[in-house]
Amino acid sequence: MILEVRDVHAAYGLSRVLFGVSLAVDAGECVCLLGRNGVGKTTTIRSVMGLTPPSAGRVLWKGRDITGWPPYRVARAGIGFVPEDRRIFADLTVAENLDVAARGTREAPGWTVARVYDVFPLLRELADRRGGYLSGGEQQMLTIARTLMGSPELLLLDEPSEGLAPLVVDHLADQILGLKRQGLTILLAEQNVSFSVALADRVYVLEKGRIRYQGPAAELRADEALRQELLGLSVGRPRR
Ligand SMILES: Nc1ncnc2c1ncn2[C@@H]1O[C@H](COP(=O)(O)OP(=O)(O)O)[C@@H](O)[C@H]1O
Ligand SMILES: [Mg+2]
Repeated sequence: MILEVRDVHAAYGLSRVLFGVSLAVDAGECVCLLGRNGVGKTTTIRSVMGLTPPSAGRVLWKGRDITGWPPYRVARAGIGFVPEDRRIFADLTVAENLDVAARGTREAPGWTVARVYDVFPLLRELADRRGGYLSGGEQQMLTIARTLMGSPELLLLDEPSEGLAPLVVDHLADQILGLKRQGLTILLAEQNVSFSVALADRVYVLEKGRIRYQGPAAELRADEALRQELLGLSVGRPRR
C-alpha cells in the first residue's frame, strides 16, 4: 500500500469529526471515499495533506510516517491535492496558471505543460483564455492540470464533480481514467455515486466520521439495494 490512513481522529476545536478512519490505497489504484455532505470526506483528505492534522492515528506514505508534516512537505513527498473550491487565478490565462504552478515544484520533473495539454487537449485550445472566463468543467480541468505540474504520484481529488452538468461529469470521469492509465494513483472524495463507481476500483463509504463499508466498486455498481442502504439515495443506473 502506497498510502495508509490508520485509525485517524480529527476535530475542529471541540467539535470531533473523524472517529478512527482507516483506509489504504495501493499504487496505481483509484479509490473513492464516498459519503453524503458533512460526513468528513474533506477532513480525511485534509488530514492526509497535513492541513487538518489528526488528533490521533497515523498517516503513512510509502511506509513512512508523515503524520503532522506541514502541507508543503507532504506535497514535495509526492502527494498532490486538488481542493473542492477550484482556486485558479481568474486574471491569469490558462497558460499562465500552469506556468505559475510549474515554479518551485519537485526536482524530479514528470509532468510538463506539453504533457498536461496532451491529457487535457481542451486546455491547449484555451491556453490564452483567462481563468475567470472558463466554464465550471474547464476550471476543474485547469485545477487538476495545475496540481499535475507538481508531478505527484498520488492525486487527492476533493469532489471534482461538484456543480458540474451530467455530460461534463461523464467527460471528467474519462479524463480521470486517462490519468490513471498514465500511472497516477488516485484517492477521490465524492458524493456522486454513479460517477464514483464508474471510476473507482474500490470504495469506502464514510458515515458520520466512521467507515461504514469498504469493497470493490463493482459490488456497489451491481447492487442497487446496497447503494440505497449505504447512501440512502436512488442513483439510477451507473454509466458502466
Ligand atoms: N473549519 C471547520 N470548522 C468547524 N467545523 C468544520 C470545519 N470544516 C468542517 N467542519 C465540520 O466537520 C464535519 C465534516 O466536514 P467535511 O469534512 O467538510 O465533510 P464532507 O467533506 O464529507 O462534506 C461537518 O459537520 C462540518 O460542518
Ligand atoms: Mg467536502
